[in-house]
Amino acid sequence: MSNRTSKKNPDLSRSNPERFTSAGFILAAIGSSVGLGNMWKFPYITGKHGGAAFFLLFMICLILVGLPILLAEMTIGRGGRGDAATSLYNLTGKKHWRLIGLLSVLCAFLIMSYYAVVAGWTLHYTIESITGALFRGGDDYRGKFESFASGYWPVFWQAVVMLLCGWVIAKGVSGGIEKFNKILIPGFLAILLVLMVRSLTLPGAGQGVEFFLKPDFGKLDAESALIALGHAFFSLSLGMGCMLTYGSYVEQKQSLGSATLAIGLGDMLYAFIAGLVIFPTVFSFGLEPGEGVGLAFMALPAAFSQMPFGFLFGGLFFVLLAIAALTSAVSILEVPVAYAMHNWKWSRKKAAAVISSVCFLVGVPSALSVGGVLGAFQPGGKTVFDWFDFVTSYVLMPIGGLAVTLFTGYAWKRAGEEAGLSGFWYKIWMFLIKIVAPILILLVFLYSVGIISV
Ligand code: PHE
Repeated sequence: MSNRTSKKNPDLSRSNPERFTSAGFILAAIGSSVGLGNMWKFPYITGKHGGAAFFLLFMICLILVGLPILLAEMTIGRGGRGDAATSLYNLTGKKHWRLIGLLSVLCAFLIMSYYAVVAGWTLHYTIESITGALFRGGDDYRGKFESFASGYWPVFWQAVVMLLCGWVIAKGVSGGIEKFNKILIPGFLAILLVLMVRSLTLPGAGQGVEFFLKPDFGKLDAESALIALGHAFFSLSLGMGCMLTYGSYVEQKQSLGSATLAIGLGDMLYAFIAGLVIFPTVFSFGLEPGEGVGLAFMALPAAFSQMPFGFLFGGLFFVLLAIAALTSAVSILEVPVAYAMHNWKWSRKKAAAVISSVCFLVGVPSALSVGGVLGAFQPGGKTVFDWFDFVTSYVLMPIGGLAVTLFTGYAWKRAGEEAGLSGFWYKIWMFLIKIVAPILILLVFLYSVGIISV
């Protein structure tokens, strides 16, 4: 018996024969990690927490906690050759691990329900921007966003996102997910570079660059550290079975260590360039970098409306946001779809159709709660949308991440072998995964649910 078999599953790889090509996997994983997190969330939280120093902190969290868990998730996926719940079971034969894994599947399903809403906004803004409609009728961009978000169009766009993602997933791992990423990611990089040159050549761009790259450590506090860590998680798509599920489609010969480095570097690079697109633009037009969630949808359109060919750059910017969102959304939807295929023996097409439909319905209240008919319904001071975000990002994802560290560090003895690590790097990995990562995740978790305060 090879190290990847267990008594119950004599040949795991045969039960899950779909595979990415080597380059396809790296692209798809970068597509998953580079998402609204990099293009929308990262700039506004960096703006709020003082710029460069926060960026540095984020990179430290990414390296010390993000990368070890990323490697662990891919290793578990490839070793177990199942979905986020089944893989854990396949490797240990213990039912409680399947249950813990099931939490990640649930988390992915819930994230998808509201991520599709924001992805839908990006599609609406792309069209509005390219047709120029966004820039007509005055420059109250906050009012424009609010009137859009409080209507019913967000539900339409959410449905479009679900349909598109369901369709890509139904086409399979190499014919769907891999192809989709191969088409979109190069275009994404090209647009990002065009926008970077545009923003760096705006008058007064230097101030934005300085804000983003010249650290002022006085602006950091304990809260910034926790937010940076939480974001490192979100940004690398960790803690909800996504990289684990993608890992289950990786060829045995692929080096997971190099894949980890490539994905981590890719994510960092995209966050870096996103910062170089957004902050110079924000400063050049005298906008506020700490604007918050509205930075992309409310502040930037104001800047685009004032620059020559702004409709074009605005259009490109929202296309970029849409691509980032869609390649991530596909990876999130794949988690529950893979679960249904393995556990309920559904065909890929059936799983994709049923799960995206149900997920759409579950997401409708979120779509209607950002100022819409459900906007006033705020149990505990949070809208439905905020509750979904809170429960997934701050409760379920840390639990999922913690479970991965404990599984890899303590429960499964063959992680090093499957990951292809030994000696020095294995020791470092185990130190981070057994001690550093669980402690830091626990701190973030206790802080975000309000058990400790700083
Ligand atoms: N990493 C994605 C982003 O940065 C979000 C994501 C989270 C994707 C979890 C998949 C899983 O936007």
